Amino acid sequence: MAKNKTAKSKTPSGKTQALNPVASTSRIDIGIDAGDRREIAEGLSRFLADAYTLYLKTHNFHWNVTGPMFNSLHAMFMDQYTEQWNALDEIAERIRALGFNAPGSYGEFVRLTSIREESGADGVPDWKGMVQQLVSGNEAVCRTARAVLKTADEAGDDPSVDLLTQRLQTHEKYAWMLRSLLE
Ligand SMILES: [Fe+2]
Repeated sequence: MAKNKTAKSKTPSGKTQALNPVASTSRIDIGIDAGDRREIAEGLSRFLADAYTLYLKTHNFHWNVTGPMFNSLHAMFMDQYTEQWNALDEIAERIRALGFNAPGSYGEFVRLTSIREESGADGVPDWKGMVQQLVSGNEAVCRTARAVLKTADEAGDDPSVDLLTQRLQTHEKYAWMLRSLLE
């Protein structure tokens, strides 16, 4: 079912901007309607932006964590950002397989993500603040994944459903593991 509607996203500042993924070719016929492919690509672009922002935040905290939990959190964050980094490629390449260009710049990711960016080296939280932010970040990634998974499922896009289901399992597990540190 063609929808051809333009999805909206909220920037970290709350400003809503239209998403308009760029089709890389019009000659594509994989059995998914062009409008559905566009809507799924829009959702996957927002998901990629969330996943990239969370990846960077996790790597940032791997570098900057301090305190009595240093050894375990330094290692835990590394395990998570390494796994997340590899998954980014799968998400971007799924957008390409649907016939659209994948966002790949910090400007696009900031515009598309639902996760607030860190201030960087000047605003490093303590270890508990880091863990709280990563719980929230993983939960945000899950919410975005669920929204696009529904779109992909309704369009019969099984590869996107499969990819998003796997990412949901991983990010829900990360959220649980991180949440457990605070209990
Ligand atoms: Fe390292």
